[in-house]
Parts: sequence; C-alpha cells; structure tokens
Amino acid sequence: MKFGVSVLSQINKITVLGSGIMGHGIAQISAMNGYDVVLRDIEEKFLDNAMSKIRWSLDKMVEKNKINKQESDKIHGRIRPVVDLKEALQDTDLLIEAVPEDLKLKKKVYSEVDQFAQEKTIYSSNTSTLPISEISQLTNRPSRFIGLHFFNPPQLMKLVEVIPGVNTDKSTVDLGIDFVKSLSKVPIVCNKDVPGFIVNRIFIPLVHEAAYSLENDGKTMTEIDSAVKYKLFLPMGIFELADYTGLDVVHKATIEMYSRDKKVVNPHPKIEQLFSSGKLGKKSGEGFYSYVDENYERVPLSEEEARRYDPIRILSVAINNAAWLISNGVCTREDVELALKIGMGLKRELFEIGRENGFKKIVSTLSELQEKNGSFYTPDPYLKTISS
Ligand code: 3HC
Repeated sequence: MKFGVSVLSQINKITVLGSGIMGHGIAQISAMNGYDVVLRDIEEKFLDNAMSKIRWSLDKMVEKNKINKQESDKIHGRIRPVVDLKEALQDTDLLIEAVPEDLKLKKKVYSEVDQFAQEKTIYSSNTSTLPISEISQLTNRPSRFIGLHFFNPPQLMKLVEVIPGVNTDKSTVDLGIDFVKSLSKVPIVCNKDVPGFIVNRIFIPLVHEAAYSLENDGKTMTEIDSAVKYKLFLPMGIFELADYTGLDVVHKATIEMYSRDKKVVNPHPKIEQLFSSGKLGKKSGEGFYSYVDENYERVPLSEEEARRYDPIRILSVAINNAAWLISNGVCTREDVELALKIGMGLKRELFEIGRENGFKKIVSTLSELQEKNGSFYTPDPYLKTISS
C-alpha cells in the first residue's frame, strides 16, 4: 500500500483490465509505487506476453540503476495475472479499464464488471478518445467514474490526463488526482470531456497531416519524420510515433473523434488502409515502416534529411488544435505546453516554435489549406489574436 497521501488510504488493490501496451504499463507503474495489482485479460497467452514485457521493462530499469534486482523481483511479484473476471475484481478498490477503444466492447465489459465489482470499487478508464460521460453511463456508478488517460510508454511518460465526466463527483476527481500523484506522475485535469481530450487532439491529426504531406509534397517518410524530430522537436518522427502507438489505436481514435466533431481531424485514407491490411505498426512488424521484432526499436532519422522538408503544414495544424483547446476553455496554454512536454516529450514550447516560424505564416498556411480542403483548417480565433 502507498502511504502518505491521505485520500489514498482508500486504495490498496488495483485491477487493470486489458494487458495490451497501456494495460501492462499501467499495472507495472502501479506495482512500482506499492500497490497490489491484478492484471486481467481474456486469455492466458495475452497475460504471459504482458508479464514478459513487464520483465523486459524492469530489467531495463535495473540496467539503468533506477531500481535494483531485488526491487524488480518484488514489483513483478506484486502483479497477479488473472483470467477470471470475478476473481480479478474481488476486493478491488480501483478499477483501471484499458480494453480496446470500441464502445460496444466497453459496454459488454462494464456490464460484466457491474455484476462482480463491490460497492466500494471506483471505476476509471484509460480511454484515449471516447467521452467519459458516455462510458460512465454504461455502468452502475457514473458518479464514481473518472478518465485516467496514460501515455505510451506509461513506464516513462509522466503525464496522466484526468477527465471528469458530467456525472463524476468531486471526491472521485480528487481521488483520481491523488492517485496519479502517488504514481509519481503529473495529473492535468481536462476541464471539458471533449473528443481527444488534450494531447490526442494534437497528436492524432498530426499523423493524418503527415500522410497528406507524404502524398502531396514529394518527400520521403524519413525526410518528414526527420523534420518532425529536428525542426518540431518531438523525440520521435510522427510516422514512427504512429507505428509505436499502434495504427489500430490511431485509426480507432480517429473514427471516434471524427464521428463526434469534424473540427478535430481531417482523416487521410492511408491510416484506415494500413489498419485494414493488418499493418498495425511495431506490434505487427509493419506499419508505415517495417520492424525486426516486437522489441523496442527506433527508426534512424537525421538532421541532414530534416533539412529537405519544411514541416509548416504539420506545425500549423498542431498549433491550430492547441489554440482550439485554449479558446474553448478545455485547458490553459500552460497546461497544453506541459501536457505536450511530459505526454509527448516535446522539447520546446509549441507556441514558441510557432512564434519562431511566424504566426502570420501559420495563419496563411491554414487559410490556404482551408480554401482547398475545408473548414477543419479554419484558423482558430486565438491564433488571430496572437499573430496580429
Ligand atoms: N520501460 C523501460 N525502458 C524503456 C521503455 C519501457 N517501456 N521503453 C523504452 N525504454 C528505454 C529504451 O530501451 C532505451 O534504453 P537504451 O538506452 O538501453 O537503449 C531508453 O528507454 C531510452 O530510449 P531512446 O534512446 O529511444 O531515447 P528517447 O530519449 O527517445 O526516449 C521515449 C524514449 C521516452 C519513448 C521518447 O522517444 C518519447 O517520449 N517518445 C514519444 C512518446 C509519445 O509521444 N507518447 C505518447 C503517444 S500518444 C499516447 O500514448 C496516447 C494514446 O491515447 C494514443
């Protein structure tokens, strides 16, 4: 049990539903911070795979002297892989659901969870794009339901977006915030339950803009990705990051966001094509790029290649969507900057990169794109105020 944060005296045992990229990482960091964790999936083989990924990650941390071997074994031992849902939910204080992004599937999962969860269990979802208010309505406790959105890899990324739904009560929000802090992570509260919350409203559209650049600008994937890395200061190229995140995740997030708000993203068909042909990125061995195996692996990018491409289109969309978040009171400019820094590893402030490139140029790039491709690109009023 984690001591020191009073509201957390309520939480000893955590159940993570879903052992994929996010689920296993969330289970690991919860165990690293002293919680007893049950990791639940529908088949033993998924859990075996997840437990070996946790072992890999812990070994990396031992190698880098972040923890010692003894601690690593203790942490691993604190995570119990379980297939039976009733057993997994027994006596649990906090449920963290990280199953695939499909509302029908979530509905099925929560109707089963409702049968077995005790009254005391607080529900949370790691959904990346589905509205928390909608998911909470599928359960028997919408007031004790909260969004806790982690970032990949959860073991390394410090950000957790905390998203209250319309029915979430204040004590559940407070508990969510304190829980995130107890994991040595930084909570950023998303004031409105909007599609994509904060970071995905910026990340997901960038994958599509990069695909438009690839189609129209006569550049290679590594030239675009190198420019994203060396001129927009993200630690990974955007195609690289999409592959790393999973094209299934990117595709489903796109569908969910676009179906609710056309102002979030201008979908490029390439993402759906990759998804439909089973090219899911790193996890399937091929996405935008090809990979040797499932282990952590980077795409070689260079400053030389970066010089061949001006990523103004990609930057303009990122800034425009960030401006939308500010204009619509979802979060402050400071929160957007912090979220991008600790959720995507952005090394410089986004609006500072925008200022250096020129807000007038950004607004005119968006206006040209709007003329050709429609209102998704309409410059946000906030940009007009800072560019004048
Ligand atoms: N556990 C432990 N160690 C890990 C790890 C893990 N899960 N993953 C990677 N590492 C290790 C690597 O193996 C490497 O070790 P090595 O030096 O022995 O090779 C070390 O971390 C550093 O890796 P890199 O050399 O590749 O260095 P970076 O400085 O680039 O750091 C990174 C890696 C933290 C992944 C960084 O590239 C990054 O921040 N990338 C962007 C990630 C991002 O944007 N995430 C958010 C995506 S959106 C999202 O998740 C939301 C969802 O809803 C879609």
